[in-house]
Amino acid sequence: MTPAHLSGGNSPTSFPKDKIRVVLLEGVHPRGAAMFKGEGFSVETSAKSPDDASLRKMLANAHVVGIRSKTQLTAELLEAAPRLLTVGCFCIGTDQVDLSAARTKGIPVFNAPFSNTRSVAELTLCEIIALYRQLHAKSLQMHKGEWDKSAAGAHGVRGRTLGIVGYGHIGSQVSVLAEALGMRVIYFDVQSKLPLGNARSVRTLGELLKDADIVTLHVPNDASTHNMIGAKQLKMMKPGAFLINNARGSVVNVDALAAALKDGQIGGAAVDVFPVEPAGKGETFTSPLCGLANVILTPHIGGSTEEAQETIAVDVVEKLLKFVNVGSTAGAVNVPQVELPDQGSSEDDEDSRGKKGSRRHRILHFHKNVPGVLSKMHAIIAGMGANISGEYLRTQDDVGYVVLDVDPTDGEKVLAGLRAVPETIKVRMLW
Ligand SMILES: NC(=O)c1ccc[n+]([C@@H]2O[C@H](COP(=O)([O-])OP(=O)(O)OC[C@H]3O[C@@H](n4cnc5c(N)ncnc54)[C@H](O)[C@@H]3O)[C@@H](O)[C@H]2O)c1
Repeated sequence: MTPAHLSGGNSPTSFPKDKIRVVLLEGVHPRGAAMFKGEGFSVETSAKSPDDASLRKMLANAHVVGIRSKTQLTAELLEAAPRLLTVGCFCIGTDQVDLSAARTKGIPVFNAPFSNTRSVAELTLCEIIALYRQLHAKSLQMHKGEWDKSAAGAHGVRGRTLGIVGYGHIGSQVSVLAEALGMRVIYFDVQSKLPLGNARSVRTLGELLKDADIVTLHVPNDASTHNMIGAKQLKMMKPGAFLINNARGSVVNVDALAAALKDGQIGGAAVDVFPVEPAGKGETFTSPLCGLANVILTPHIGGSTEEAQETIAVDVVEKLLKFVNVGSTAGAVNVPQVELPDQGSSEDDEDSRGKKGSRRHRILHFHKNVPGVLSKMHAIIAGMGANISGEYLRTQDDVGYVVLDVDPTDGEKVLAGLRAVPETIKVRMLW
């Protein structure tokens, strides 16, 4: 059955669907555009992140904008987007959007926090085996025409101890996959986490570093993880142990890692993320890790598989459609989260033009979260004698979000009344 928030059909809606303009930038997976088009929305796509002037032009009429990590949506640009209802970040990070400016304008921002978890976990598994088998060096030799069939330095992973730092979405997936290879898994996390399979938590990072044959990092980028692996921690690791960083570039001190690799304290490393990364294709990459033996370097591709890009598109578009069509903000990163059912209709409901069987009218109201605003709204509604069949409320910081389901005959007047409340940021009605 089609979910309620995707059930456009041919029935008239509060706002003609083909007038809803969606702008998808930076080569968002085509599945995203297809889903919006399937809803009847007008879609404009671009493979690139446009320059400031073109972006302004696109934003001037857009109701929905989808970006990846390059496009910066500043407060100034949001100001230049008077019709903008919502923003989708087709990636994990959302710091390219001025989230608080978007919140105070009643613009929810959605992302896809977990859609590439499996891709990062799979790359990590691949690197564990590649490091133990010296795969990178063997392949380089073959490309140079050298045939060296020696087993020296190549090892199996079965029975080795894998130390996972950060047992969140990715770390715990790596744990399950590594155990399937016969590895012994230990992990360290600042939060108490349920161990999966036979994995065992350790109490300190130091304990993990001492005990593991190979360490993989899956922590966020924050003050507690900044340079969490430096010269001191590398020295605590077993001589010749391996290190994998597919988390964030700030987590490892790369100069210290390069030194530890050169003196043999660390036997090999796989690194996907760097303290400074090139802005795009064509820009030169430099790192003290370049040219070192048994070091696998990849250009921040941990989460970049075609499958992950498609999953991200589906995840974000579903959230955007649920907001545009139903008003639900579940999963938004900057506004109060409200999960809403479809407002439905009954045989007896009749709209302001006397049409029977109309959908109940749903009023979505973002307002400044100041004392007294709700009672003001309720007083207006009570004064009208309007019939409210559902009310939902959440607040976050300086913004509140109220959703009211009202009889179709009352919709227009309640909308007009709430629009006049001075604390109103944004209000729209759905039916
Ligand atoms: N290479 C890539 O392309 C790529 C793709 C996706 C995610 N990532 C990165 O992978 C990392 C993990 O992502 P996730 O989705 O698993 O995140 P998550 O939030 O699900 O898990 C992170 C875990 O780290 C723990 N943690 C936080 N601070 C810690 C500390 N100081 N010491 C130990 N544990 C700590 C948290 O409690 C949590 O369990 C993030 O940095 C993310 O940005 C990289």
